[in-house]
Amino acid sequence: MKEQINSFLQKAQEELSACNSLKELNELKVKFLGKQGELTSFLRGMKDVPKEDRPEMGQLINNARNVVEQKINELENMFSQQELNEKLQNEKIDITESSKGIEKGELHPLYKVFDKLIDCCVEMGFKVITGPEVEYDYYNFEALNVPKDHPARDMQDTFFINDNILLRSQTSSVQVRAMQNLKPPFKVVSPGRTYRADSDATHSPVFHQFEGLVVDENISMIDLKSMLTKLLSMLFGENTKIRFRPSYFPFTEPSVEVDATCPSCGGKGCNLCKGTGYMELLGAGMVNPKVLEMSGIDSKKYTGFAFGPGVDRLAMVVNKIPDLRMMFENDVKFLEQLK
Ligand code: PHE
Repeated sequence: MKEQINSFLQKAQEELSACNSLKELNELKVKFLGKQGELTSFLRGMKDVPKEDRPEMGQLINNARNVVEQKINELENMFSQQELNEKLQNEKIDITESSKGIEKGELHPLYKVFDKLIDCCVEMGFKVITGPEVEYDYYNFEALNVPKDHPARDMQDTFFINDNILLRSQTSSVQVRAMQNLKPPFKVVSPGRTYRADSDATHSPVFHQFEGLVVDENISMIDLKSMLTKLLSMLFGENTKIRFRPSYFPFTEPSVEVDATCPSCGGKGCNLCKGTGYMELLGAGMVNPKVLEMSGIDSKKYTGFAFGPGVDRLAMVVNKIPDLRMMFENDVKFLEQLK
């Protein structure tokens, strides 16, 4: 048995010296020290050793166990340290490396046009107000001089929720709310979403308008024209000229359709303006005295003008896009190219 122990010790030391990974070491640990291991089998064999030899054998076995255990501990420490070093090496972070940059979000091109319009109007002394998108028939039509069964309702394919409630088809509804709530003189603009059952290259069922309303003493068409010339020059460039064409809206009298010189060719005529030199941009007019009266404003003392561009149309012109729907397909690559 003595020889067996000595040769076990020698073999164990050799195998441990040759071992070179934590995994291998664990296998050897089981083999030498485990319950089914070789040292345990020596202990089991003690019962066959003559009594007088047992203390010596016991000591030899203990000694062998100590030597093997110590060697295993040493190797365990060494391999763990090695593993840690490798990990640190592999996961090294170079804090001097320059960053790849963070992708910055941007406003939708439509909202950039909204912001520009709002900024220009605020600069001219307008107050910004908003109104509900789910609106009473009264504010969207009746108080704007469009009674029930009036043929002008056909111009706006309206989404009705019930007989009295609808999705507003124009931001002109906010004009009524302003006239009821504010004391003249006042200058307000109201940006927002509007809805009509309409869909093609230049119409979307959800679209955007920007309503303007000025009420004061002695307001005339001249004020409307000079204000719009200023606003459209801020939007399209200093040399922009505008022209009025007679039109009809029940809530303005007289009413006009406003064109501006094409921002692409400056009025010479090009593809974008179909050779005319002008772009049709918005409806406007002097507030119908009947509309002022319905909202409690004395039409003998006060006059006013109103204007209401479609913002989607303006964004199409600013960005020279032929089809409105392209702006709402959410193709980021396309949107990134727009102003
Ligand atoms: N609300 C009108 C439309 O949607 C535009 C408009 C606004 C006309 C203000 C005159 C005055 O067609």
